[in-house]
Amino acid sequence: MSAPIFHLTTFGCQMNVHDSQWLSQSLEGLGWNQGTENDAGVLILNTCSVREKPEQKVYSHLGRLRDAWLRNPELLVAVGGCVAQQVGEAFFARFPYVRLVFGPDGLPMVPGALARLTREPDLRLSLLDFSESFPERATALPANLGHGAQRQAYVTIMQGCDNFCAYCIVPLTRGRQRSRSREAILTECRELIDRGAHEITLLGQNVNSYGLDAQDKAARQGDPGFPALLDAVAALPGLRRLHFTTSHPKDLSLETIAAFGRHDTLCPHLHLPMQSGSNAVLQAMGRKYTIEYYLDLVMNLRRVRPEIALTTDLIVGFPGETEEDFAATLYAMRTVGFAGSFSFVYSDRPGTRAATMEGKLDKAVKAERLKVLQDLQTELSEDWLHSRVGRRCEVLVEGESKRSSRGLPSCRGRDEFGQTVNFSMPSGLPQELIGNIVPVRIQEAKKHSLWGCVEVVG
Ligand code: SAH
Ligand code: SF4
Ligand code: F3S
Repeated sequence: MSAPIFHLTTFGCQMNVHDSQWLSQSLEGLGWNQGTENDAGVLILNTCSVREKPEQKVYSHLGRLRDAWLRNPELLVAVGGCVAQQVGEAFFARFPYVRLVFGPDGLPMVPGALARLTREPDLRLSLLDFSESFPERATALPANLGHGAQRQAYVTIMQGCDNFCAYCIVPLTRGRQRSRSREAILTECRELIDRGAHEITLLGQNVNSYGLDAQDKAARQGDPGFPALLDAVAALPGLRRLHFTTSHPKDLSLETIAAFGRHDTLCPHLHLPMQSGSNAVLQAMGRKYTIEYYLDLVMNLRRVRPEIALTTDLIVGFPGETEEDFAATLYAMRTVGFAGSFSFVYSDRPGTRAATMEGKLDKAVKAERLKVLQDLQTELSEDWLHSRVGRRCEVLVEGESKRSSRGLPSCRGRDEFGQTVNFSMPSGLPQELIGNIVPVRIQEAKKHSLWGCVEVVG
């Protein structure tokens, strides 16, 4: 029998993207091959449930697969991730061709389960249990990180979340917070660096509370927590750049802020979800900080790293949000001057506290507020991009740019702020430049990116 061909479709956050990367690498490790959705016999959907829209996308995607299954009854469909955890085995009744349902904690067992399902055509399996500790998985590193984007790697440091913000389904789909052991994290980081990674991003729903799992009081007392982990990773020989995401403002400690002053490897960029600029809304959301507290954090961060680029998440139209509350969000956005933001219209999620709250807003009002907020963000992002003109930055080259400048070939990459930079190469693009970090002088701000020219070194 020839090796199965699989295809993975991923929705959702960086954690899901990273989980999918692991799954692909593991399946390739079993000798399976990746193909397109049309030629694959095994289709895997890694799903997101954070808002209603991504959840609906999963059902419409699965609906479309019905025809493919009618043509090929051996088609094996697996649904994983946060919608799978939420909906569970109900997928089996609704979609007869779904044969595996797995939640985020079930991921380590998925390669084995898929292999078994290919051998036993009448079997259906579900992997929906939460594990007690971090669901450690077998190492599945790419053999060689090679050139380009692979120089950038993600390392998960925790699973789940204990915060239960009123609007959020994540604690229900990813379970309680469980921190991964420091040794496992450092070992994975070292392996990635050995294979050529220049940049590592530490991942978790709330990385600032690493080591402070509510369900593990022993860890609470014994573990030195996130700043100590950052110190250890930042000091790994060979690492050029370190990022971490996501941070909850209530847990961003002064020690973590101070780390931005201690480590050159720690990039001057922080994603710090604000959600709202109104204290009444923040309280109703259960975020446990005030806007004044948030702005103080920003001041402290800028004291330590004046050039730091801040990005955020914002929700408009939370139940009960008034025009004044919304105006406070716009005001706070201007005060901080976010370089970028992800903004969302509030969406009811099953099982969350906000879903049963009074004061739901009209769809049209929410859409209008989102537009006003996004227009302001465009203005703020442009201001930030313009402030970069004339400056020098370090670009990790990802590849050739689709755009060219004055007919010259150009490259694309990311600077230390996480910003896309295109730059021309007077001498053309030498292949060995891909995956390297080069100095670039910024010459021009475009709408969403920067243009520059490589600085001659020496
Ligand atoms: N753990 C991260 C983010 C998790 S979800 C954090 O705490 O910041 C990513 C973003 O989706 C959230 O920051 C929030 O802005 C948005 N979000 C979550 N639930 C939502 C909902 N029910 N409606 C609209 N946006 C939501
Ligand atoms: Fe959701 Fe809040 Fe946890 Fe983030 S911190 S994942 S928004 S509950
Ligand atoms: Fe979505 Fe789950 Fe991530 S709900 S945002 S994929 S944690």
